[in-house]
Amino acid sequence: VRALLFTLALAGCGAEHSTAWQLAEGGRYLDDAGYRRDALVRSLANPDNAYSTQRLASYGRGWERLPEWRPRSRTLEADDAAAIMRGGIAALADRPTPPPLWDGTRPTELVEWIALGERVFFGFPLRPEPLMEWALTAPELAESFGVTPLPDGSYPGLRVIVDLDGATRVGITCALCHAAASGGDALVAGRARRNFDYGSLRLAYHAATGVPVEPDLARRMRTWGPGRADVTEDDEDPVAIPDLWGLAAQSALTQAGTIRQDDSPVALALRQETQYLQACGHRARPPRELALALALYLRSLQPPPNTRTHDQVTARGARLFAQGCVGCHDNAALGGPPVSAATVGTDPALANGHARGTGRYRPPALLDVRDAAPYLHDGSVVSLDALLSPSRLTGGHRYGAELDDDDRAALIAFLGTL
Ligand code: HEC
Ligand code: HEC
Repeated sequence: VRALLFTLALAGCGAEHSTAWQLAEGGRYLDDAGYRRDALVRSLANPDNAYSTQRLASYGRGWERLPEWRPRSRTLEADDAAAIMRGGIAALADRPTPPPLWDGTRPTELVEWIALGERVFFGFPLRPEPLMEWALTAPELAESFGVTPLPDGSYPGLRVIVDLDGATRVGITCALCHAAASGGDALVAGRARRNFDYGSLRLAYHAATGVPVEPDLARRMRTWGPGRADVTEDDEDPVAIPDLWGLAAQSALTQAGTIRQDDSPVALALRQETQYLQACGHRARPPRELALALALYLRSLQPPPNTRTHDQVTARGARLFAQGCVGCHDNAALGGPPVSAATVGTDPALANGHARGTGRYRPPALLDVRDAAPYLHDGSVVSLDALLSPSRLTGGHRYGAELDDDDRAALIAFLGTL
C-alpha cells in the first residue's frame, strides 16, 4: 500500500515540482529578502496568533541583525557522560571540539543538500540545555526521563557544544524528540521519541536545583506525560511529538495547522530558521543554508520499510477507509487539509489557543500509524482500537465508531499495513 501511495504522490508531480524547481525556490529563499518575507506572510495560517505576530514583527527586521551562529560541537559520548558524572560540565572542555559542521560552501545537488540537512538534524544545537547537564549527573536519572544512550554509549539528541560566550555546554538537537530506536537498536530519524518525558524532567530539575518555576506552569507540566512536550509560545498546551513522515504531502504543518505550505520547501525552511531563533532565545540566527538543508532533509524522510502483508481482510479495510476516512485523509501520506476543531470534536484548547491556534486541526499523515500511539494532537487516545471504539466517550474524532466489530477489525488491519 505504501508503495502505491508514493506512486500516487509521484504521479501528481508535474514539471513545476521538479528537483530543479525545488532548488530554484531554495535559491530565492537564500538570496531574496523580499521573497522570504512574502513567503513567511503566505505561510502563516492565522496572522494574529502569538507564533505569527512574533515572526511578523521580527523576521527580516530585528532578527536580521543578530549574529550568525556556527557553533563547534560534537556527539555526547559515554566518556563525556562519565566526565559530567565525575566533575560536572567543566570537565567537557578538556576534550577537543571539532570545527562547525558546515564550511560555508553551498551544495549544488539535491542529494548534497539532504546530506547536509541530516547533519543539521543530528548535529546543530537548538540551544544549550542545563536540564540535560543536570540529568546527566546520574545516568539512571536521565534514563528515567527517556534520555538513553545507544549501545555505543553516545546520546542521540545531545551534543557537547561551544556556546556563544565560549563556554562548553550540553546542547540539544532535533534528534532529542524526533529520532527514536525501534525494534532492536537502530535509531530511526523522524520517529517521535515517545518515552521522552520532558515535563517530569523539568519538574525534577526545578525541585532538585531550587531554580524557581511558576506554580501554574508546574501544575500544567505535571499533566504532560511522556511523548508530549509544550513547544508553544505560552507553554499552555502540551502537544504529542509527531512522527515526521509525509511532510511534503501536507498542505499544513503542526497539529493546529499553524503553517501553510505549497510544494515549495520554503515554508518549512522558514519554520526551521525561526525555530532556531526562538529556541536560542533570539541571541543568534542559524545560517539560512542550514535551515534550507534541514527542510529538504525533513521532506525526504520516510518511515522504515515495512513488509506487512495484504489479504482479503486488509482489502476490505481499504474499502472502508475509502468510504469513511478519505474525505479528510486524502493526500499521498493520508493526511489532509485542516478541519475545524468543532467538526472533529477533539479538545479544542490547542486549536483555539492564542499561541498557535487557527481554529482547526490538521489530519496527520497515517504512514506507520500502527506504531504512532498515543493518538490525536494531545496524545489522549492510547491505541487504534480505542480510537475506533464505539464505547469511547471522550476525545472526539468519532469516525469509524459506527462500524461493527468485523469491519472495525478490518479497518485496523488495513491501517496496520500503512
Ligand atoms: C523538545 C522536543 C522537540 C524538539 C527538540 C524538536 N521538536 Fe519538533 N516538534 C515537537 C512537538 C511537540 C511538535 C508538535 C508541535 C505542534 O504541532 O504544534 C513538533 C513538531 C514538529 C514539526 C511539524 C510536524 C508536522 O506534522 O506538521 C516539524 C517539521 C518538526 N517538529 C521538526 C523539528 C526539527 C527540525 C527540530 C530541530 C531543529 C525539532 N523539531 C526539535 C517537539 C520537538
Ligand atoms: C472530518 C474529517 C476526518 C474524518 C472523516 C476522519 N478523520 Fe481521522 N483525523 C482527522 C483530524 C482533524 C485528525 C487530528 C485530530 C486531532 O489531533 O485532534 C485526525 C486524526 C486521526 C488519527 C490519529 C493519527 C495520529 O497519529 O495521532 C487517526 C489514526 C485517524 N485520524 C484515522 C481515521 C480513520 C481510520 C478514519 C475513518 C474511519 C478517519 N480518521 C476519518 C480528520 C478526520
